[in-house]
Amino acid sequence: MTSTAEGRNKLGLVGTGMVGTSFAYAVMQRGIANELVLIDANRARAEAEVMDLNHGLPFVRPMRISVGDYADLAGAAVTVITAGAAQRPGETRLQLLERNAAIMREIIPAIVRHNPDGITLIATNPVDIMTYIALQESGLPPERVIGSGTILDTARFRYLLGEHYNVDPRSIHAYIVGEHGDSELAPVEPGEHRGCAALRLSLRRRSRVRSGGAAADL
Ligand SMILES: NC(=O)c1ccc[n+]([C@@H]2O[C@H](COP(=O)([O-])OP(=O)(O)OC[C@H]3O[C@@H](n4cnc5c(N)ncnc54)[C@H](O)[C@@H]3O)[C@@H](O)[C@H]2O)c1
Repeated sequence: MTSTAEGRNKLGLVGTGMVGTSFAYAVMQRGIANELVLIDANRARAEAEVMDLNHGLPFVRPMRISVGDYADLAGAAVTVITAGAAQRPGETRLQLLERNAAIMREIIPAIVRHNPDGITLIATNPVDIMTYIALQESGLPPERVIGSGTILDTARFRYLLGEHYNVDPRSIHAYIVGEHGDSELAPVEPGEHRGCAALRLSLRRRSRVRSGGAAADL
């Protein structure tokens, strides 16, 4: 992580819901920052989360965790965005997309205004579209507006393969590629890499067992 004169190892977080708070907790546990600023449209929620996190500080490396406004993101090396609207009953994915796009158009200019030199990492779904909107809104170079992409799907894939082969998932070098969504895929090409053919056969055998003997394509 880069350090700046204004804030050494400072991180920002916009959105203190389930995902954002898990991120904040992981940052605190791993001791990778000495300052973390939390922002949420629901300030009372952010304040409550900050209180809980701060109460855990006696057990981790020292750091400062606070509720902030966008101006407090100045000097943050990375700002993570997990702010998003929850899907309403009967709401289509497209309608949700429009609401989250509006949130992104509100958040990104505020971040860039106060922290033009930092990196922005987007997790809000649909993450690839949100990242593209953030890139356009920010006017920043692409290497400073990053989406979480398929990292979660890749982690799930590695875990499942590890479970299937009884191998530590940290030793599995498989990826899910494409969008983080319905069209993503696992590139398993027999003949291209050693072990892929065996993997494909083994997975097909497993899916056949699961589908009661009928041949199932992967
Ligand atoms: N990329 C991934 O792999 C991945 C994985 C899981 C979830 N997600 C996505 O992350 C997002 C957050 O999920 P969650 O479960 O934490 O949701 P959540 O509802 O628990 O939290 C969302 C938070 O965003 C806040 N918020 C809404 N509008 C805001 C605004 N304009 N400014 C600041 N804060 C605002 C809300 O007050 C809330 O606290 C969702 O879009 C979800 O789909 C992505």
